[in-house]
Amino acid sequence: MIPQAKIDEIIYAANIEQVIGDYVRLKRRGSNLTGLCPFHTEKSPSFSVSPAKGIFKCFGCGKAGNVVNFIMEHDSLGYVPALKFLAEKFNVEWPQQEFVNVDEEKKQRDEKESLQILNNWANDYFQDILLNNEIGQAIGLSYFESRGFRNETIKKFNLGYSLDSWSAFFDKAIANQFSEDLLFSSGLVKHKEDGKKFDAYRGRVIFPIHNLNGKVIAFAGRYLKKEPNSPKYVNSPETLLYHKSNELYGLYYGKNEIRKQDAVYLVEGYTDVISMHESGVENVVASSGTSLTEGQIRLIKRFTENVTVLFDGDAAGIKASIRGIDMLLEQGLNVRVLTFPDGDDPDSYSQKVGSDAFKNYLETQRQDFIAFKVNLLLADAGNDPIKKANVTREIVESISKIPDSIKRSIFVSECARLMNIDEQILIVELNKLRKQFLTDKEKEYISNDAFEGFVPPEKSHGEQFQELLSDSIIFDDQERDLIRLIINFGDKKIDENESETAASYLLKQILEKEIEIDNPIVTLILEESYSVLQSGNTLDGKFFINHQNPLITTLAANLLAKEYTLSPLWERKASVNLESFFKDIKGDIDSAILHLHIKYINKLIVKNQQLLTPSLSEEDFEIHQHIHMDLIKQRNVLTKKIGTVIVK
Ligand code: UTP
Ligand code: MN
Repeated sequence: MIPQAKIDEIIYAANIEQVIGDYVRLKRRGSNLTGLCPFHTEKSPSFSVSPAKGIFKCFGCGKAGNVVNFIMEHDSLGYVPALKFLAEKFNVEWPQQEFVNVDEEKKQRDEKESLQILNNWANDYFQDILLNNEIGQAIGLSYFESRGFRNETIKKFNLGYSLDSWSAFFDKAIANQFSEDLLFSSGLVKHKEDGKKFDAYRGRVIFPIHNLNGKVIAFAGRYLKKEPNSPKYVNSPETLLYHKSNELYGLYYGKNEIRKQDAVYLVEGYTDVISMHESGVENVVASSGTSLTEGQIRLIKRFTENVTVLFDGDAAGIKASIRGIDMLLEQGLNVRVLTFPDGDDPDSYSQKVGSDAFKNYLETQRQDFIAFKVNLLLADAGNDPIKKANVTREIVESISKIPDSIKRSIFVSECARLMNIDEQILIVELNKLRKQFLTDKEKEYISNDAFEGFVPPEKSHGEQFQELLSDSIIFDDQERDLIRLIINFGDKKIDENESETAASYLLKQILEKEIEIDNPIVTLILEESYSVLQSGNTLDGKFFINHQNPLITTLAANLLAKEYTLSPLWERKASVNLESFFKDIKGDIDSAILHLHIKYINKLIVKNQQLLTPSLSEEDFEIHQHIHMDLIKQRNVLTKKIGTVIVK
């Protein structure tokens, strides 16, 4: 954990105008700066920066946040690396020692750093052998050339060669002061059964694997001559630097193009990625032969939601791998697929037909995944009704994984058409399957008769964040208003005569009235606010803007920015005094709470009605009827109040 004081120091030092100015041409407009949004394509500027608030916001695509969020988003960095980047840029001391309180952590960090130094060195070494050593040139370089890789590409991907010798690499590394232990843990040197050491990559061409930031974190080595018992590729083991399931080959070289095109091609092999670059298609990554992991999908999602999977191989191979694609759908990605003629992969096919024909093939031959799957399975099923029913089930299963309901219904109609069956049949099947995707809250809502009040979520913030990313949470007006009030006016007095702050008043109201809120973001913010107040600290906008959870920061920047600070509209009305505009904070809170309360009671009424079934015992039936009357009464009291508070 980085101490909040350090985070504040960095954010304070980081000049947001200067940081964003490195990426966006900003023009001053009033107290704000505007420019073309770097996160989406636009012709007229809707991207705005407020140096005074330390936030940015795009009115076009909705991206917003503080200076750290900007770097995270723009350079696809994590929170801590983004902070570190800013610390370096603005000369804030990054006190490594402070964060390490356990010896083990320090040891790991040292080992990680050493591994990185070794990898950098080995990377240079293998490249040097390939490009400058006579044997390297004769064997390695000529191999790559024979595969149609130009020198430029070979250098760009840092391709290399490891001499066909038991210990040429090992000896050189030892001479360069690397320890044996480190060499073994990197996987570059291995032990034979008899204990003898040997260069793991000997006699192989080298494909270094880069992480998102271009650091070489692992190596793959391809054999040049087939040897029995020897795998085609030797890959680095899992190390402190390399977690295979969280990396994608080619992402570092493709990320800008992926972002720009808002689309990515997914291939299987290293050589596919490189050949596609040769053909001028740079938005490509490889899963490295295995099926995709969740971590890899999340990584893709940071750049685009549009994936085209390029299959090589025969129909049987394709059938085996299409199962993995459901996972892409589940994560909300739009999936298209493309196959190559039997025996070809993207590499061989692009070399065969040439760059223009290849690009044309990519653009014209890709199909939507669901349609592709329907056709593939139907071709097999023929007219067999049982097989056809199975196809239906399998297809509906895929569709059911798509989180977006509009997309789901589009696919349902499309499939009904393709399969020539009634849409209604698919819908019934689909709804059966969708039940398992209900949120816990919804399930509880349907099945349980407990009437608890304000229930703190059991999930960790991280999980909630994830959930929110995949499942777009919809705020209703009152929820949004609640958050807006707490973020903008949390530390303000509710009115001149009282000492209570808006945040404390608002939280008390919710707890007292036992209003249950099931929007997890709102709950998260309320909980955070609650614990700040409990610890006796003030709760101002800065707390939310500089919060470590990017979700909170983004939301805060959005709500702070919206209408009240950054909108060009308000700027024109220069005479509007914000303080006076919002002077009735208490009234605003009362109104928001009242509406939320009514909404909550409505929910309870529905829930109770669902429990009122004829199968109940007479006694239970009476209880639920009683509850019903009671709730209606409560609601009447509340709705009458609406007239007396300002309705928004
Ligand atoms: P391929 O056999 O298709 O290799 O495996 P390739 O990349 O197309 O290589 P060329 O074109 O034959 O030279 C696809 C991917 O599976 C992983 C590698 O990531 C490879 O790029 N793989 C394959 C291994 O990790 N180990 C192996 O032994 C084989
Ligand atoms: Mn290949």
